[in-house]
Amino acid sequence: MRERIALEKRYAESHEIYLGGFSQDVPIYLDLAGKYGSPVLEVGCGTGRVIQRLAKAGYDAHGIDTHRPSLELARERLRPWRGRAHVADHDMRHSPLSTRFRVALVTLHAFNAFIEIEEQRLFLRNLRRSLSDGAIVAIDCFYPLALAKPELAGEWREIERTHGGRSVVVRDRREMLTPLLERRTQVFRIDGGPETEWVSHRRHVTAGQLAALLEEAGFDDPRWMAGYDAQTLQPAAADDAPATPFTMLADS
Ligand SMILES: C[S@@+](CC[C@H](N)C(=O)[O-])C[C@H]1O[C@@H](n2cnc3c(N)ncnc32)[C@H](O)[C@@H]1O
Repeated sequence: MRERIALEKRYAESHEIYLGGFSQDVPIYLDLAGKYGSPVLEVGCGTGRVIQRLAKAGYDAHGIDTHRPSLELARERLRPWRGRAHVADHDMRHSPLSTRFRVALVTLHAFNAFIEIEEQRLFLRNLRRSLSDGAIVAIDCFYPLALAKPELAGEWREIERTHGGRSVVVRDRREMLTPLLERRTQVFRIDGGPETEWVSHRRHVTAGQLAALLEEAGFDDPRWMAGYDAQTLQPAAADDAPATPFTMLADS
């Protein structure tokens, strides 16, 4: 048990270092918050990278996640913005939140953690219930590396990142177990410490599939952009299946 807790903590720390320098998604989220206002909800807030940027910019920002060690790091990081940055352990598959948000951000592939379609449906229904009418949702979806670059399927890659004076070296392997299900194996080492293995699964969803799920859950006008490039924003059609990561927007 103690070993499991230590492993979970190391995983949260490695995430903090690994993603610490990532900010490509932030401009679009600040733009949505600017247009639609507070309060803003982030689903899958992890260690608070995006919430921090929203709170710094003056928005009332709420993050939810189910990984407690990440939430602990988020609380530490967000201490200077305590009045308007909040995080909580909440799983939207199980129940909506009582606050009605103006903006919901499902950041950096959190939606792809839902493997079963019924989990996706429950999540989207509860998310719709947590938004006021006239609000907006943005969902950032991954595109599997093994589909984008089949030559890398099952191959180990080594990635090194530094942030805040700390470093993480990650050996990373992706493989498709089914046409939609990716298994990701990561072996990471923080600041030259012990190696830790972490295995996770993500489900690939196409833009057309996600648009249909959003409409079924009560959202309107689903539209998507490649990555975070608002210039590519386009209405979602049933057979849209971009071979890139994409961000889906829809209205409530
Ligand atoms: C790739 S991390 C991204 C973290 C953060 N959004 C960032 O960009 O720095 C995905 C996050 O989704 C969270 N997550 C997975 N399932 C979740 C669920 N059912 N509810 C809330 N968060 C979830 C994970 O714990 C993880 O922190």
